[in-house]
Amino acid sequence: MKVLATRRYPGPAFEELDDVEVAPLERVTAPQDDIEALIVANEALPLDLLPSLRLIANFGVGYDRIDLAACTARGIAVTNTPGVLDAATADLAFALMLAARRRVVEGDLLVRAHEWRGSWADSFLGEELSGSTLGIVGFGRIGQAVARRARGFDLRVLYTRRTRAESDLGEYRDLDDLLRQSDVVTIHAPRTPETEGLIDARRLGLLRDGACIVNTARGEIVDEEALVRELVSGRIRAGLDVFAHEPQVPESLLDLPNVVLTPHLGSATRQAREAMTRLVVDNILAYERGEALPTQVAY
Ligand code: DGY
Repeated sequence: MKVLATRRYPGPAFEELDDVEVAPLERVTAPQDDIEALIVANEALPLDLLPSLRLIANFGVGYDRIDLAACTARGIAVTNTPGVLDAATADLAFALMLAARRRVVEGDLLVRAHEWRGSWADSFLGEELSGSTLGIVGFGRIGQAVARRARGFDLRVLYTRRTRAESDLGEYRDLDDLLRQSDVVTIHAPRTPETEGLIDARRLGLLRDGACIVNTARGEIVDEEALVRELVSGRIRAGLDVFAHEPQVPESLLDLPNVVLTPHLGSATRQAREAMTRLVVDNILAYERGEALPTQVAY
């Protein structure tokens, strides 16, 4: 099976593909009749130029930029990489919570600028994460991995999800109540038509003064302009790993001390990324053998 991969994906599993061309999708400007499988990282696809395509193996759990209906109509199967990046993403959510609450990046910049003059009783006061109330928006695998970590920080955990479900990992709240009652809110929902713009200006206004919002899911879930307004006002803090127009980040965030910014690092650990490649390759090999695809999401 001839595979087109949009980049060389990390880990030894990638070497198991025996007929793979590595090229970004921008290079596909004319029809390519020989490509049967595609490895992409949640990218919009030139399906008209790939008439022989039978399988799209997405490197990532989220596939919101892939038009599943168009793939199904053409008989193209789509797979993703769930499970293997839960720990990495949950860890990063905690890194952002801690960095934002304890002003880690501000402190780092001060030291690097040779401006540290000594440690005083009232300098760089942050807020403890321990003992605070954590609101988790989206309570699937990653949201639950965050809730398990929260036990170690003595956090009171509230969670919300589309369908209410009992869990001993936290207390269910509807979204508005969760936003009102949390000191820290962390987003772990997929981007769907229902979640796009879910945290809008009204809902951001429900956050407590001094609350912190962390997003490692998708930028589009929060109204980015409204979020920027809240952050510029200094009323809340944030840790943002994802943005509505990646890789662009709103200019007005860049100099704000109350927001920590990272470049979509959620699954960026060697362990997670190699396991993601493993799953991608397992799906392709299963397709070649005519077996059920391990993590199929469409067709
Ligand atoms: C995912 O898996 O959807 C992540 O955003 C990729 O890092």
